[in-house]
Amino acid sequence: MTNTNTIPEEKKDNGPLTLDSGQLNKNVYPIFDKMMGRKDKEQLLHQRGVMVWFTGLSGSGKSTLAIALERELHAKGYLCRILDGDNIRSGINNNLGFSAADRIENIRRIAEVGKLFVDTGIITLAAFISPNDYIREMAGSIIGKEDFLEVYVSTPLEECERRDVKGLYAKARRGEISDFTGVSAPFEAPVHPALALDTSVLTVEESVRRLMALILPKIDN
Ligand code: ADX
Repeated sequence: MTNTNTIPEEKKDNGPLTLDSGQLNKNVYPIFDKMMGRKDKEQLLHQRGVMVWFTGLSGSGKSTLAIALERELHAKGYLCRILDGDNIRSGINNNLGFSAADRIENIRRIAEVGKLFVDTGIITLAAFISPNDYIREMAGSIIGKEDFLEVYVSTPLEECERRDVKGLYAKARRGEISDFTGVSAPFEAPVHPALALDTSVLTVEESVRRLMALILPKIDN
């Protein structure tokens, strides 16, 4: 059991996050230069690390494609790691909701964690709504543009809502969930994704084929 007396007063609630951490960073001395480097890990794994960032509405098929892609890459001998919304939000980000500020913090943490995987030479597949350019730009600049492949899962809202795998669209329409992306919160489509895949017209196999064509040239070592 957690002894709440050991938790500082200001941490006991999940109050507003301070995104400006400038003050906190002053006395921190990273030692990355003394550790084994990315090149060493990539040589060990015989692959190059990359971030494949799936963006799109809830129910668009981001996680389904990430899972199918991971299976295909794994079968070919590549080491992958999937990060997805529902898993991350039940663990490291379980103190975050869906306000604009919380979504930024959600993606900031995921991008920082993702960067560690990419720096370990791992093919990292991130599946998050990441609903606007600002958020996706932030993720890209944390990870590094040259390691960041943006994949837009462009399945239309009508189809996502028709599928309603988790029953969340119905709840959002009934007003039981606020700030629901596509219903009561905005989704800004990316303008120049590396790839766009509409899972209402493409089979999973065809989408994976297109993903492999995009990714294989970047990860062969
Ligand atoms: S993001 O906008 O911050 O990138 P993220 O991908 O982590 O979102 O989480 C989205 C998942 O959370 C959805 O697939 C859905 O299962 C769940 N969810 C719960 N409430 C909401 C909401 N208000 N808007 C969007 N998704 C929600």
